[in-house]
Amino acid sequence: MRTVQYPIDFNVSDMTDLYTVFGNPIAHSKSPLIHAEFARQTGQRMVYTTTLAPLEHFADAVRAFQAEGGRGANVTVPFKEQAYALASARSERAEAAGAVNTLNFAAGEIYGDNTDGIGLVHDLTENQGFALAGKRILLLGAGGAARGVILPLLKRQPADLFIANRTASKALDLAGRFGCRGGGFDGLADRPFDLVINATAASLAGDLPPLPEGIYAPGALAYDMMYGRETPFMAAARARGARVADGLGMLVEQAAEAFFVWRGVRPETAPVIALLRSQ
Ligand code: ATR
Repeated sequence: MRTVQYPIDFNVSDMTDLYTVFGNPIAHSKSPLIHAEFARQTGQRMVYTTTLAPLEHFADAVRAFQAEGGRGANVTVPFKEQAYALASARSERAEAAGAVNTLNFAAGEIYGDNTDGIGLVHDLTENQGFALAGKRILLLGAGGAARGVILPLLKRQPADLFIANRTASKALDLAGRFGCRGGGFDGLADRPFDLVINATAASLAGDLPPLPEGIYAPGALAYDMMYGRETPFMAAARARGARVADGLGMLVEQAAEAFFVWRGVRPETAPVIALLRSQ
């Protein structure tokens, strides 16, 4: 069931720790490449594979991997909520996200963490040079992707975090849970933000969330959590004069935080982002 996707240059032995990423589908995951680069860079003896978990048997797949000696795992679509339920202990950021993307098996516990939000924050602050304190942030979307980043964003003390969603009631619910403001897209007209984050699934379908004019303050950054191509959201933001970033840095930064959770070592992310961009 599990397949090694990236040529690993380490000797697999009893000393080599096993990690995987569970998803469905999973074949195109970049995580094995990212973690192999981190391991090479930091001299950690580990192997990181992909595991295609059956849709109805995620927990069984995790337990089987644990029984084989797995030390930890990442979890991606569509299993993050199931991973949350499976975890026997959780971090504050996993609790806030209601989802788990990182599992660490230690001392008989399945420890559930969520590194997506801090991955976004690190990409913004360290790679994009965007300090969040005092900034006006607009978060688009009210699904799992949006929920996962709210607490880490709020911890950086922005002036405002407004959650806007096609279905306004979902944004209001989510905003209420975190003590911030929210609503539909129509209430945003001529209200400028310094940072607009697209956490909707619109880009996946090649759609553009119907955003009114006037949401980008001068010098604003438009950030799409999707990566791999210029999305309609990015193109529209560029046309309105905003600086634009995709989610590739977030992908690498969430992986770096997971690597730190497992190994206690912080890898360099910039060369890995550059490697992925060059592909
Ligand atoms: P995820 O876990 O990726 O966040 P989700 O929980 O299904 O996925 O949530 C998808 C989000 O994208 C929702 O906020 C959804 O808006 P609705 O709540 O109104 O459905 C949003 N979304 C999906 N397609 C969209 C589109 N074409 N335009 C705007 N928002 C869209």
